[in-house]
Amino acid sequence: MKVLLVNGSPHTHGCTFTALSEIAATLEKEGVTAEIFQLGTKALPGCISCGKCGELGKCVFDDQVNVFTDAAAKADGFVFGSPVHYAAAGGAITSFLDRVFFSTMNAGRRENFYLKPAAAVVSARRGGTTAALDQLNKYFTISEMPVISSKYWNMVHGFTPEDVKKDLEGLQVMRVLGRNMAWFLKCKEAGQKAGVSLPATEKSVMTNFID
Ligand SMILES: Cc1cc2nc3c(=O)[nH]c(=O)nc-3n(C[C@H](O)[C@H](O)[C@H](O)COP(=O)(O)O)c2cc1C
Repeated sequence: MKVLLVNGSPHTHGCTFTALSEIAATLEKEGVTAEIFQLGTKALPGCISCGKCGELGKCVFDDQVNVFTDAAAKADGFVFGSPVHYAAAGGAITSFLDRVFFSTMNAGRRENFYLKPAAAVVSARRGGTTAALDQLNKYFTISEMPVISSKYWNMVHGFTPEDVKKDLEGLQVMRVLGRNMAWFLKCKEAGQKAGVSLPATEKSVMTNFID
């Protein structure tokens, strides 16, 4: 079993990475492979709503979005981490997630995420954490992804990784999240082995609010 942890910060080894590393170490201790996926600092355009993903089977911008989407097919769970920027998720991870989820849905590759557990974590110096978390959780709840929780909202505080290491409660929240994610994955695997099949699906209905 494998969990992909996305570092949505431009800082490869910054505060968000420190939080994700605590989760990754916990997952590994629980016997789950953890891999951190760095968004990096290259520009990530937002979705231009061209619809080409439906034809191409991937986003028209061949960048980290398509690399991640391919990797997601082989992953069993996800953690998306972001620094808080102006009381919201960072611009790069917002562009990234808009295109990841829109292109997989439009390209008929929803199984990359379907019923795979997910969690969002955020890092802030001071405020805007819950607004950013609410924003990130919405990608999962529109995609039939079970949301894994911890014993507090998934946040750490700090301006530097050293600050985050002093946020003992925040780090504990990350470890609990890692254990809960591992437990869920093991339960899912046990259920599948015991013959619990995936839920029945329905043909999608899409009604736009025009009448
Ligand atoms: C453009 C920008 C906006 C920010 N906005 C906020 C904010 O709204 N609230 C806050 O507490 N910190 C804010 N910060 C600070 C970062 O969220 C904080 O230092 C975070 O822990 C950095 O994580 P990182 O090292 O993973 O990038 C902002 C930083 C930047 C660069």
